[in-house]
Amino acid sequence: MGLAIITGGSRGLGAALCDLYRDQGWSVLEFSRSAPHDFSVELDLSDPVDASAVFSEAFASLGDFAASEIIAINNAGMLEPVGPVEHVSPGAIATNLDVNVLSAILFARAFVEAFQDHDCPKTFVNISSGAANKGYAGWSLYCAGKAAMENYTRSIALEQSARPNLIRAISVNPGVMDTSMQEAIRNSPLELFPALERFTRLKDDGLLAPPALVARQIAEIVASRPEPGGVYSVNR
Ligand SMILES: NC(=O)c1ccc[n+]([C@@H]2O[C@H](COP(=O)([O-])OP(=O)(O)OC[C@H]3O[C@@H](n4cnc5c(N)ncnc54)[C@H](OP(=O)(O)O)[C@@H]3O)[C@@H](O)[C@H]2O)c1
Repeated sequence: MGLAIITGGSRGLGAALCDLYRDQGWSVLEFSRSAPHDFSVELDLSDPVDASAVFSEAFASLGDFAASEIIAINNAGMLEPVGPVEHVSPGAIATNLDVNVLSAILFARAFVEAFQDHDCPKTFVNISSGAANKGYAGWSLYCAGKAAMENYTRSIALEQSARPNLIRAISVNPGVMDTSMQEAIRNSPLELFPALERFTRLKDDGLLAPPALVARQIAEIVASRPEPGGVYSVNR
């Protein structure tokens, strides 16, 4: 039986990934604040030290789970704070980086520590964004976090390349999806986010992908055993 470990599976893309792997008969472990599933573990990624302990404890509780394949997906993320750099408070900056970078790194670390020796195909998937390689006025933290995690993931891939029980580390850009994150984008004040109209139009023109479709394509990318360290885009 496969094991899928997913952060931010309470809604949006993460929930679609949980559904997909459950439907395929995998065992799923999900981490979020609202923790709505009977396979959820509650945690708040804005408290990285606590989150790290929760990850390690949850992985240890799996014991010698004899998985045929293991996938860990760093999916949870937050957009806020939105606005020019001098407008956002130091506390809001710290929270964003705690969720999008620090806790994401601690998730990857705990995963590698717990599962390195498992003798089955293993993949760490970092859910990235076009914002990793393009700046957006008003999204400095979101862009910085996505860029940091793509390069962190590349570094894991290099570390893993010579290991006998390789963990394949990749990033995936899911493209724009119809989730609550896009709703939050459309609710941004124009004076804080100048590209607002472009995102409003994506929704009006029906160009936001259903998360279930994106989840299927991510699972296909993982199943194709992609080159470690790469950044893969969902095509639709
Ligand atoms: N939507 C898009 O168009 C788009 C485009 C490119 C990339 N992405 C990326 O795709 C991923 C999924 O996005 P989405 O649109 O599905 O987002 P979403 O609908 O806003 O869902 C975000 C998920 O992250 C969890 N989360 C947020 N803050 C958390 C915290 N402090 N502690 C624990 N969990 C937390 C939420 O769970 P709780 O609230 O229950 O804690 C939720 O399950 C993100 O990495 C995002 O950056 C999205």
